[in-house]
Amino acid sequence: MSLIERAGLCLLHRFDPERAHGLSLSALRAGLAPLPGLVTSARLSTDLAGLMLPNPIGLAAGYDKNAVAIQALSRAGFGFVEVGAATPRPQMGNPQPRLFRLTEDRAAINRFGFNNEGMEAIAARLKARRPGPVPVGLNLGANKDSADRAQDFAKVLATCGPFVDFATVNVSSPNTEKLRDLQGPAALRALLAGVMETRAALPRPIPVFLKIAPDLTGEDLAAIAEVAVRSGLSGIIATNTTLTRDGLTSSHKTETGGLSGAPLFERSTRVLAQLSQLTDGRIPLVGVGGVGSAEQAWEKIRAGASAVQVYTAMVYDGISLISRIATGLDAILAREGFASVKDAVGSGRGSWL
Ligand code: FNR
Repeated sequence: MSLIERAGLCLLHRFDPERAHGLSLSALRAGLAPLPGLVTSARLSTDLAGLMLPNPIGLAAGYDKNAVAIQALSRAGFGFVEVGAATPRPQMGNPQPRLFRLTEDRAAINRFGFNNEGMEAIAARLKARRPGPVPVGLNLGANKDSADRAQDFAKVLATCGPFVDFATVNVSSPNTEKLRDLQGPAALRALLAGVMETRAALPRPIPVFLKIAPDLTGEDLAAIAEVAVRSGLSGIIATNTTLTRDGLTSSHKTETGGLSGAPLFERSTRVLAQLSQLTDGRIPLVGVGGVGSAEQAWEKIRAGASAVQVYTAMVYDGISLISRIATGLDAILAREGFASVKDAVGSGRGSWL
């Protein structure tokens, strides 16, 4: 990390976390953060459900909820970028404070509750963006007070789908009451049927992923994997934040919300490996949860991920972490004798089961 970035992070950490989050987005948009541009190599470039990725390290949903900084994020070293979550109508989310840094644990707890400007405003921004060097996707959410939440996902996809390269059905946020009930097999089957029908009507049938929670039993996972494959989904993103609170030391550890960052790594990687076993190559998986180094991105790939996403570690190590993870992964692939990411997917799954 450069001295300037370190100083910038120190400054940001003096602010309340939500304000710091907003300031970091503004700094990106203003061009204050030096960005590496495209990070790629023959070993790193790969495909994910038909998307060509210059490298397999993506931005996880929730950082750029309103799609305001896509241009800068696309030059920050990520191989793909996911913005959102977007809901049909604008929504304030939960009262503040609703984001907490757990510095000693290199973690965060958030209970934002899908605060966003709504699908129309977000679609307008997505439509206006210039074509960039990496795929950009949108995380789909549901309004808290919606009469038909399942329908909300299809609505956002219909409105924003023409302007993105992929979309993610997020039924795993812990911060909207009863949202995760949509992960149950019958509800999920009906929801995904609606989403896939909407997808088929898009001018370009983009890949659609499902994002799941890390707090599911083996039985839940098996049912979800089966429904996902049968619905014709393009892949599964594992995982969202956790409700568990094991082994934390920071003062904010008892805050309500979803826990992300380092303490989520093991749990989310085990879920990923289980899913990899269950789906057995029928659909690709994206590994997310606690990745803060090239070695950890490598572990996700070994456990069965075709690509990886990162969020919370950037709070502590800055955005330059992304290019360090990507170039570090390139070196690890060379060290381990793999010519491409694709060849390595699932190569160490057994050690995570
Ligand atoms: C998130 N995450 C998230 N996920 C999602 O699918 N939709 C969302 O809107 C959000 N919002 C959000 C806000 C904040 C502040 C955080 C920290 C996280 C979850 C995120 O995409 C990711 O799945 C988890 O954070 C785990 O990855 P990391 O952060 O440990 O790398």
